[in-house]
Amino acid sequence: MRLARTNIENLPYFACMAKYDGADTFMYLDPPYFDCEGDYGAGIFSKEDFVRLRDIMSGLKAKFMMSINDVPQIREIFGCFRIEEVTTTYSVGDTQKAVPELLITNYDPVEKVASWADYLDE
Ligand SMILES: C[S@@+](CC[C@H](N)C(=O)[O-])C[C@H]1O[C@@H](n2cnc3c(N)ncnc32)[C@H](O)[C@@H]1O
Repeated sequence: MRLARTNIENLPYFACMAKYDGADTFMYLDPPYFDCEGDYGAGIFSKEDFVRLRDIMSGLKAKFMMSINDVPQIREIFGCFRIEEVTTTYSVGDTQKAVPELLITNYDPVEKVASWADYLDE
């Protein structure tokens, strides 16, 4: 029942983004980490795809948030957008490791949270 209004797609990222882009869309983007492109199979995602993804993101009508590892190459490729640094914890396996991560958006996420707080206070 929870998935009653959910569409599950099996598309390359660029086709999925094109299909759902629009002013009323929010896209959460969770691509492979930089330097981990091969983790999901050969030929599926390469370093060049980060530039292709950035160019698609630049033309979106949708709001987006992308989470990705904090490395200089990502900061350079996506430097045209807002970049917030956060700390997250990898919990796969036995270790609990705090690592820096980036949230890349085309809107101000802090402003959005502030307005939610106003709403919740009412
Ligand atoms: C960091 S993982 C995201 C994990 C996912 N959020 C989860 O919690 O399971 C990156 C995802 O991108 C997918 N992916 C890799 N290359 C892709 C491509 N060219 N088009 C669409 N998805 C792709 C991988 O299959 C993987 O699920």
